[in-house]
Amino acid sequence: MARLRVAVLISGRGSNLAALIAACRTPDHPAEIGLVVSNEPAAAGLAHAGRAGIPVRVVPHRDFSDRPAFEAALDAELRAGGAGLVCLAGFMRILTAPFVERWRDRLINIHPSLLPAFRGLDTHARALAAGVRVSGCTVHFVRPETDAGPIICQAAVPVLPDDDAERLAARVLAAEHRIYPLAVRLFAEGRLKVEGERVAIMGASAPESPLFNPLP
Ligand code: GRF
Repeated sequence: MARLRVAVLISGRGSNLAALIAACRTPDHPAEIGLVVSNEPAAAGLAHAGRAGIPVRVVPHRDFSDRPAFEAALDAELRAGGAGLVCLAGFMRILTAPFVERWRDRLINIHPSLLPAFRGLDTHARALAAGVRVSGCTVHFVRPETDAGPIICQAAVPVLPDDDAERLAARVLAAEHRIYPLAVRLFAEGRLKVEGERVAIMGASAPESPLFNPLP
């Protein structure tokens, strides 16, 4: 069976891109990373694509007069690359509703919090300031509202007493690198069904045990 062609959009470091590349390289994986697009010519993450021999396109947003013109160029690259799924992985441009609707239910994002808590930037500092005991990350289908949309999967990590934003970010990032590939695999296997604003996962069973932090 033909593998799903995935395009990954980045702006920076690209550690989630690297995790996706590694996962898709495993034997019989149902997806392949066919294209990496960056809006930042100097994005460090582009090196991961280069090393893996994955085609790269740079679409610098500053070269365009407005957002729709930038998004038209982005859209053209994604279509030319035959993308069946688009993954935002640290892509730092807001996408407008027409673009998001064109890729509806084929466009996913990873966010470093347990959505719907802590949408937006500086999630770890805000989680620490709020005193939450558990934080984490979320992969979700993209909707025009920023950091909102049907949730595919989440991972929770504890917030430890001597955490600062950097330490918490590292713990969450390690979880990101596990759930983004999981979400892509589930999508590629055709197991995700968007029902209203929720996602049903075909053939999945979830543990019933609670996660306690601190332990009782
Ligand atoms: C990640 O924390 C991701 O959740 C957020 O941006 C960061 C990107 O990191 N959207 P990287 O570029 O994948 O290393």
